[in-house]
Amino acid sequence: MAASMVVGSRRVWDGCRRGQRVLRLLRGLCSGGQRPATDGETHFGFQTVSESEKSEKVYQVFENVAKKYDLMNDSMSLGIHRLWKDNLLHQMNPYPGSQLLDVAGGTGDIAFRFINYVRSQRERRIQQQLRSHQNLSWQEITKLYHEEDHQSLGGSHVVVCDINKEMLKVGKKKSQRLGYSKGLSWVLGDAEELPFNNDSFDIYTIAFGIRNVTHIDQALQEAYRVLKPGGRFLCLEFSHVNNSFISSLYDLYSFQVIPVLGEVIAGDWKSYQYLVESIRRFPSQVEFKEMIEDAGFLKVDYQNLGSGIVAIHSGFKL
Ligand SMILES: C[S@@+](CC[C@H](N)C(=O)[O-])C[C@H]1O[C@@H](n2cnc3c(N)ncnc32)[C@H](O)[C@@H]1O
Repeated sequence: MAASMVVGSRRVWDGCRRGQRVLRLLRGLCSGGQRPATDGETHFGFQTVSESEKSEKVYQVFENVAKKYDLMNDSMSLGIHRLWKDNLLHQMNPYPGSQLLDVAGGTGDIAFRFINYVRSQRERRIQQQLRSHQNLSWQEITKLYHEEDHQSLGGSHVVVCDINKEMLKVGKKKSQRLGYSKGLSWVLGDAEELPFNNDSFDIYTIAFGIRNVTHIDQALQEAYRVLKPGGRFLCLEFSHVNNSFISSLYDLYSFQVIPVLGEVIAGDWKSYQYLVESIRRFPSQVEFKEMIEDAGFLKVDYQNLGSGIVAIHSGFKL
């Protein structure tokens, strides 16, 4: 199914892309703030680097941390990242048959939650159907229950797309270990140039990924392109804390503890230094909302979690 969505109208898209690059350059010249001061330059954490250097450095960060990525997430956030991701699924509330594209999907956390969610919804429906048959015998109930394929997702599907081979490798191994196979595919691809046809997906998610992308506006335009009309964009990302007391504690923890944890657990201080710096560089909730609107999304809104430590932005292609 995923293969049929890949490529197709790429030539038309390449033409549009040239125009978009010019637009991006003009936008960069007209606005300050989070966008690069000059074309070809951007930020890697607190450093100013060339755009190609940023892509390489981001690639190296995730190549280096891939094997310890899940362990580090749990250690750094004391497991709270799991609640944030659960919250994303709760907001998504996918309907039966939904086609999800999880970009920068890394080791599959969002995809596995999607599968669990869809399975538990199906399970609930099966139970409701069985309960609605008043006069079934015990044998008939058992037979009907076992006839259902409880692993089936009823047509729902999730594609995990990530630019980093190592992250995908860890994710695929994890999916085998945890028994996720149906309704799931893994695709190597860049958020800025997605290898999928226009209007292919019902839902697009990106969790803790967009901050690492060199041209955020380009990634947002790609999200818009691959979503079907009526499709939903959801982004979970670190954001700006709106409480001064929590903000001071959070800064202290981020700069004094996280790189140390990175060194102790993953043997990698620099990657986790980049993590905390890149969070500070990311646009505020309102600025990011405007960027999503600029890409064409409507009904854009956001919800802060943990006083804005992270935020979930959502919008629709209408
Ligand atoms: C912090 S991890 C998030 C992984 C996963 N979404 C999660 O929430 O655990 C960021 C991911 O973004 C990916 N990434 C960075 N730049 C990307 C790009 N341009 N296109 C696609 N993925 C990218 C990295 O390879 C990495 O797997």
